[in-house]
Amino acid sequence: MQGRLDMEGALTARDRVGIQDFVLLDETTEVAVISNLKKRFSKDLIYTYIGTLIVSVNPYKDLDIYNKKQMDVYMGVNFFELPPHIYALADNAYHTMLTEFNNHFILISGESGAGKTEASKKILQYYAVSCPSTTLMNTVRDKMLMSNPVLEAFGNAKTLKNDNSSRFGKYMDIQFDSQGDAVGGHILNYLLEKSRVVHQNHGERNFHVFYQLVEGGSDDLLTQLGLERDVQHYYYLTQGECAIVSSINDKNDWKSVKNALQVIEFDETNTSHLFRVVASVLHLGNVHFDPDSKGHALLKNNTELNWVSDLLGVDANNLKEGLTFRKIEAKTEQVLSPFTIDHAIYVRDALAKAIYGQTFTWLVNRINESMENKDSSRKTVIGLLDIYGFEVFYVNSFEQFCINYCNEKLQQLFIQLTLKAEQEEYEAEGIEWEPVQFFNNKIICDLVEEKHRGIISILDEECLRPGDATDLTFLDRLEEKMGNHPHFVTHRLADKMTRKTLERGDFRLLHYAGEVTYCVVGFLDKNNDLLYRNIKNLVCQSKNTIVRECFSAVDTTNKRRPETVATQFKNSLQKLTEMLMAKEAWYIRCLKSNESKQPGQFDEALIRHQVKYLGLMEHLRVRRAGFAYRRKYEDFLKRYKPLCPATWPHWRGMPADGVELLALHLGYLPDEYKMGRTKIFIRHPRTLYATEDAYEKCKHDLASKLQAKYKGYKVKGEFKKQKEAATKIETCWRGAQARKEKEKRAWAVKVIKKFIKAYINRGEAKSTDNSEYLAFVRQSYLNRLKNNLPKTVLDKTTWLTPPAVLTEASEILRKLHYRLMVRKYVRGIPPQKKAQLQMKVVTSAIFKGKKENYPPSIPQLFLDTRISEQEINIRVLSMIRNEQIKYSVPVIKYDRNGFKPRPRQLILTKTAAYLVEEAKIKQRVSYNSLQGISVSNLSDGIIAIHITCEDPKQKGDLIIQCEHLYEFLTKLSIIANKQDAIKVVQGSIKIQIQSGKENSVDFTTGQEPMVYKAKNGHLMVVATRTRTR
Ligand SMILES: Nc1ncnc2c1ncn2[C@@H]1O[C@H](COP(=O)(O)OP(=O)(O)OP(=O)(O)O)[C@@H](O)[C@H]1O
Ligand SMILES: [Mg+2]
Repeated sequence: MQGRLDMEGALTARDRVGIQDFVLLDETTEVAVISNLKKRFSKDLIYTYIGTLIVSVNPYKDLDIYNKKQMDVYMGVNFFELPPHIYALADNAYHTMLTEFNNHFILISGESGAGKTEASKKILQYYAVSCPSTTLMNTVRDKMLMSNPVLEAFGNAKTLKNDNSSRFGKYMDIQFDSQGDAVGGHILNYLLEKSRVVHQNHGERNFHVFYQLVEGGSDDLLTQLGLERDVQHYYYLTQGECAIVSSINDKNDWKSVKNALQVIEFDETNTSHLFRVVASVLHLGNVHFDPDSKGHALLKNNTELNWVSDLLGVDANNLKEGLTFRKIEAKTEQVLSPFTIDHAIYVRDALAKAIYGQTFTWLVNRINESMENKDSSRKTVIGLLDIYGFEVFYVNSFEQFCINYCNEKLQQLFIQLTLKAEQEEYEAEGIEWEPVQFFNNKIICDLVEEKHRGIISILDEECLRPGDATDLTFLDRLEEKMGNHPHFVTHRLADKMTRKTLERGDFRLLHYAGEVTYCVVGFLDKNNDLLYRNIKNLVCQSKNTIVRECFSAVDTTNKRRPETVATQFKNSLQKLTEMLMAKEAWYIRCLKSNESKQPGQFDEALIRHQVKYLGLMEHLRVRRAGFAYRRKYEDFLKRYKPLCPATWPHWRGMPADGVELLALHLGYLPDEYKMGRTKIFIRHPRTLYATEDAYEKCKHDLASKLQAKYKGYKVKGEFKKQKEAATKIETCWRGAQARKEKEKRAWAVKVIKKFIKAYINRGEAKSTDNSEYLAFVRQSYLNRLKNNLPKTVLDKTTWLTPPAVLTEASEILRKLHYRLMVRKYVRGIPPQKKAQLQMKVVTSAIFKGKKENYPPSIPQLFLDTRISEQEINIRVLSMIRNEQIKYSVPVIKYDRNGFKPRPRQLILTKTAAYLVEEAKIKQRVSYNSLQGISVSNLSDGIIAIHITCEDPKQKGDLIIQCEHLYEFLTKLSIIANKQDAIKVVQGSIKIQIQSGKENSVDFTTGQEPMVYKAKNGHLMVVATRTRTR
């Protein structure tokens, strides 16, 4: 077991609620132990380890920790990996058994009501659920499970301490085959408390089965058995005055028992005989005696006796005789000696106890037969020992003596096994065994069981010796023999102080668990457990097969007295210890949390008492003696290697060397640890805790580091992947791009080549070589042109120079464009302006580029007239009205002779021009006679109007000066339709003065404008130069 010690789970969980393993307590004091138990109990953690031993505290409430899910959790899991649980122990025992193919036993101890039977049932259920199974095995399994209700009905009873108290010791072997199937079972029973059949203390009951039968049995059955459905009717059921209790449902339990009997294959005969025995005991209890005149016992009522004889199948008279007389065999004749009433009752009760006790054993045997595995292949077993713990009552009797003796034996067994296991491990590991200080209780075991000198021997002697041996003579003998034994005291032997605590009929044993005072009353009787021979003979011939079987085994002809109860018990214990010594031990120590069976109550005093009586401290000390912790080098290294740079992350050398380095690095002192062959041994838990704390911290750091590294690694990986992907995409993309580029280039080269060739041939006629180029040139020119068209009509410079191919087209386009612009412009012109412009066009046609002051005249608007009709003399008007006046303008007229300037009005009508001075028309020039008009090219305003000379009415050419020369001449040319008649001349103008007489008007430029008659008789006109823009 030690070898499998694995405390990691416990270590990791140590701070959760108390400490999961007492071995790891820093202080091994009772106070620390109890406080740890209490802390855990308050959180419903009822299990705590001492190494592989489980301490269990009865919670007195249902905890949700026994379900299938929990079973699964504990299945196949290392002992210390999970919180302590009875399943962990069951599972480890099972797996060790399978792997090591050896036998195991689980010792469940504790005082009455501490939970032993519950624990054993839980283990059995665990195996039933978790072991592999076949249909065949299932029936065995069911039988094993079902043996419990039957044995509990017959062997359990309500006591003051426990409503379902087991009144017998039970050892059950569960047999497994090599596959781990539960294939069979076997039960050994110890020391049934038979006295309960005939007597119960106040508040206690007889064995459950009696009540179950009376309460639950069918009417038919009760009639057959002669029973009344009233527990109060039976003396054996009512002494405790609590036949009916609310916590027990006898009716239901009866059903379970009947069902269980079927499962364990009890046939009808057996079942019926079994119930007959039970009923016979009830009837026996109601057999009462009356004294006769001499005080001898007389049977009062034959009905009950008849029922007993009927149920047991014995002769009623013989029975009657057996109950009231003792048969003394003297030589050849038999003498009947009548009993006193007390004696008769004693015999009656003895018979009841004997029948019931034997039937119980028979029942166990039958169950064993039913669970027996007949296959002879080798089996391994796990034994479950549910045995009474130390008992200390106010008055302790023979039963307590036996029970406490049993506990002494088991304690001895435990010490031997534990020490042996420890010692063996030390030896195996080559570590020097350090003697462990512990109390060896062999001295007490010897005190009880030693041949000839032990208490049992003395008791037997007293029982067997002739003469009137009594309980008190037995006490005397004890005092004689044990007088100075350190563990034995009586009233007489005690010192003054102790004597006060002892009665005269008491003896006190100083058990390993504490002192217990026994009252000797009843010791001899209980030890003898005698059944008189005539009664014995009677039951031997019983027609009830069970009874017959039970008693015929006892050889009645053998005159030697049968073994006493104590000796039988001693021998069975001896056998049990021998059997257990050959097995590996597992322990469950059950503690009762309080006396009142209440959940959530932790009675410290009661717990302290049990901790002491169960020898928990002793156990802890043995487990802690020497070294508290040991681990295989590999495992130790595996867990703690991160703590030392030399061993982290890998230790390549021998594990032991690695651990040594680790220990040195951690600063273990030489006394604190030992290096075994395969394991390191650590003396104190605190050393381990320090290591574990360091480990936790380091684990944390390490985890962060690992996490960071892992994250880094992951991110890096991711990045690498992404980068690779990106590169790949990039490569593909670039490839695609390059291919595209290449294509583009090839295309470009082709295009450029073509372009160049076309460019070279651009002047040629359209051919395949240049057609595209030309088209392109055209298109591109047109596109450019579109965006660069002149915006106004006047803009003549903006037109883009066309390529050769488009010269013509460009010109057409240009014109078109201008026309368009002009059209647009013209369309936008108002009629007045249009008329004006039309006139200006005429002006332009006549003068543009010819007369110097023409350009500055352009912007000056032409008016309709310069003289309104109101300004014209009315006479003149009346004279020319019919001709329609078109235009009038003031002028200066130069005389033909002398060139005297005279201001005149010039009026243009439809047909002629009139020169008017006030009311006189000085001259009328019909347009028909208008030969021509001359003006100079300079900036003067002189106009020579040439008139046909043949006309006698005409006085020669007319010289006038007009401020509005262009306006006047334009109007005149339009009205008279004489555009072509106007001449622009340079130098001088010849004029006709009279017919045949000429003169000249000479034009020149000068500083000041002047008009005068020159010396040569010519009219001299000086004009200033007009600066052209
Ligand atoms: N693990 C448990 N969970 C809940 N209740 C429990 C547990 N163990 C014991 N009990 C309660 O305690 C009662 C007594 O338990 P049990 O009969 O097992 O005691 P015992 O130790 O066998 O006593 P005895 O020596 O008298 O036979 C049970 O009937 C049950 O009510
Ligand atoms: Mg029990």
